[in-house]
This record gives sequence, structure tokens and C-alpha cells, in this order.
Amino acid sequence: IDISNLRNASEGVITIDPGYKNTGSCESAITFLDGEKGILRYRGYSIEELAEKADFLEVAYLLIFGELPTKEQNDKFHNDIKAQSIVDDDVRKIVDAFPKTAHPMGVVASLTSALTAFNPSSVNVNSEEDMYKAIVKILGKFPVLVAWTYRRKFGLPLDYGDNSLGYVENILKMMFSQPNACYVQSKILVDALDKLLILHADHEQNCSTSTVRITGSSHAGLFASLSAGISALWGPLHGGANQAVLEMLEAIKADDGDTKKYMAKAKDKDDPFRLMGFGHRVYKNFDPRAKIIKKAADEVLANLGVEDPILDIAKGLEKEALEDQYFVDRKLYPNVDFYSGIIYRGMGIPTDMFTVMFALGRLPGWIAQWREMRLNKEPIGRPRQIYVGATHRPFVPLDKR
Ligand code: ACO
Repeated sequence: IDISNLRNASEGVITIDPGYKNTGSCESAITFLDGEKGILRYRGYSIEELAEKADFLEVAYLLIFGELPTKEQNDKFHNDIKAQSIVDDDVRKIVDAFPKTAHPMGVVASLTSALTAFNPSSVNVNSEEDMYKAIVKILGKFPVLVAWTYRRKFGLPLDYGDNSLGYVENILKMMFSQPNACYVQSKILVDALDKLLILHADHEQNCSTSTVRITGSSHAGLFASLSAGISALWGPLHGGANQAVLEMLEAIKADDGDTKKYMAKAKDKDDPFRLMGFGHRVYKNFDPRAKIIKKAADEVLANLGVEDPILDIAKGLEKEALEDQYFVDRKLYPNVDFYSGIIYRGMGIPTDMFTVMFALGRLPGWIAQWREMRLNKEPIGRPRQIYVGATHRPFVPLDKR
């Protein structure tokens, strides 16, 4: 029986799978993930090779359109993105209206949604040509929103950086350049961010990506679907884990580096505390991204000349967890976000911006998944339920309750 007809064919049987632990929602040709073996590939290319040899924009093109770009395709893609990077001037007013204390994820989700108001033609996209226009628009404007969110926090003037720079180079310039000061681009930072963005670029049907697909399945536009995905990413069980990891490591440091205490808390079933940055729904082996990031954290901090005791605490905690029967039995390994925050911190990015940096990296993956869903003409996402509430009962007027 076709599963979508099971209910009709069996007079009422439905499958129930909270958390979709064993439910596939689509067929996809974008990302291959083998959680048992710890393998991750984008469009067939291994994550290790892409992180080593490609740049973020090439990976974005690969994810969205299926092939690595030729030099001409890459140049055109970058030029089309650059041509769309200016945001409406009124967006500045919205950025300025947020309190400086606002969480950057809330700001970025709102600004992404606000873009629909300033780009109405991107809302109803039905042809591939319309899709392409919406895609280069958001790839051009999103880094501006991210940089402005950061700059607003520190009271820095909002600007566009320098469009003659590479995509990732300009993101860093837009964030970090100071008024009346010479900005010197650091190759170490560019390479580190490039790698981090590539490692975060897609991860098949995770919580935020499924949110983007299900939102888009109602034919809501790309920007609205992305805004929903950003909100889903924010939670500490998903993308918000990078912020939570750093806060946890800080708490351990302030507690005299007592990792054993936190290990005990993580194993205590009466304590809601979890070892942040550990465990994954799909990986029951090392997250291949975590391996790359751990090595990169060592290199980046050494190259920047930063000695961060937090890195030692993280390594100590990882070692203890990997030798602990609780973690061994449950196959809990460090995930992508266990070490990413340490690099972001070394780069001078504040803790509450970490998840925004994740969103910047995940943007091409969300776009690719949204595009695939629309091109495949997937039906609207609409799960069923098993009703467990009250049976029929008569209404009781307010004065009789
Ligand atoms: N610390 C302590 N125990 C854990 C942890 C953890 N980090 N993660 C899972 N467990 C335990 C659970 O308590 C459960 O134990 P039990 O069998 O004795 O009840 C068992 O391991 C299985 O855990 P589930 O919650 O059922 O696994 P699930 O697949 O639903 O959750 C998740 C995966 C959300 C990632 C979980 O491991 C977690 O909360 N990790 C910490 C947050 C985190 O790092 N999230 C980032 C994930 S990567 C990403 O989204 C980018």
C-alpha cells in the first residue's frame, strides 16, 4: 500500500512518529548523511574535501543548482548576488528600531520577514527564473542584515562594506570595519569563516530545513520560508546549541573548571541539564564536521595568537564524555557546534551572534531544499494526529461554570 493511502485503504490507520524519528518527508538529491558511519556529502562531494578545497560561494552554487560552477558560472552568480545586495533604505529604520539588547536571532528573523514587504515580486515565485531572482536577492541581502544586526548592537554605522571583495571577505568587512579606521583584511579570519560556513551549509531534513520546506509547501515565498527556518534554528536543541555550548563552558570555567560536576548533572535524569554540543538525532558516530572544526579551532586560535582556556575545558570535557559509559551507551559524540563557538569567539564574534553565523552558513542549504521542494511540486505538508482529548460534551454557559 502507498503510505499516503494507508488511512483510506485501512479504514483509519495512521502512522505516528513523534519527532519524526523514523519518518522520511521527501526524496532529496542534495545532501547524503550516514549517521552510523559519520559520512556527510553535498551533492556527492565529501564534506572534508569541500571544506579543504572549495569556497563558500562555490558550495552554495553546488547545493542550490546541483553542480560545482564553472569559472563563468561562479563569476555570474557572484555578480548577480552583488547586484542585489542593496536593501531598501527603510530597512535601516527597522534595524534602528530594535533595542540594542534584542537577541540577534529575533532581529534577523524579523528582518528577513520584513524583506517580503520591500521585495513583493519575490513572494510569488513560480518559474525557475523568478526563483533565481529571489535566490540571488536573498544571498545578496542576508549578509547585510547579519552585519547590520551586529553593528547595531555596538552602535556602529550601517554600511555595505566593499562589493569588490569576495563574498565572505565582504561579510567580515561589513561586520568589523570601524569608522575612520583603516580596515585590514585577515586571511586567517576569511579562511576560518569560509570553512565554518561550508560545514554548516546543509544537513538534509533537520528541524530548520524541514521548517523551511513545510512553510514553503504552502507556497509561502522564499523569504517567509527562510524566516520560519531561522526561528526554528534559534532553539538550543538545534542551532542555538553553539551559544549554549559557550555559555556552558563559561559556567564550567567560573566553577573552577569542575567538568566532573557537569558530567554528573548531564547524566542525572532528574536534572534537565544536557551536555550542550553533544548528541545528534542522526549521528551515532563522530560528526565529521566536529572533527574538522576541532582541528580548525586549534589552528585558528594559534594563528590568531589567542590562548583560550575555554578550548582546554572543551577538550577535557570531550575526553571525559567519550570515556564515560553513559555517553558510550547512547552513542553521544560532539556535534558540529561543540567547537564552532570557540572559533567564533576567537574571531571576536559575540556569543549571542553565534547562531546568526550558523544561519548565514545554512542559507544556501535552506534555499536548495526550498527550490527542490518547489521544483518537485511537493504537496502541502500536513501531518495527521491521534486525538486524545475529551469526547463530545455539552457547552456550559459562563455563569454555570
Ligand atoms: N547530554 C546528556 N544526555 C543526552 C544528551 C546530552 N547532550 N543528548 C541525548 N542525551 C540522552 C537522552 O537523555 C536520552 O537518554 P535516555 O535514553 O536515558 O532517556 C538519550 O541520550 C537519547 O536522547 P534523545 O533526546 O532521545 O535524542 P534525540 O535524537 O531526540 O535528540 C539532540 C538529539 C536534541 C541533539 C540531543 O542529543 C540534545 O539535546 N543534545 C544537546 C543539544 C545540542 O547539542 N544540539 C545541537 C544538535 S546539532 C544541530 O542541531 C546543529
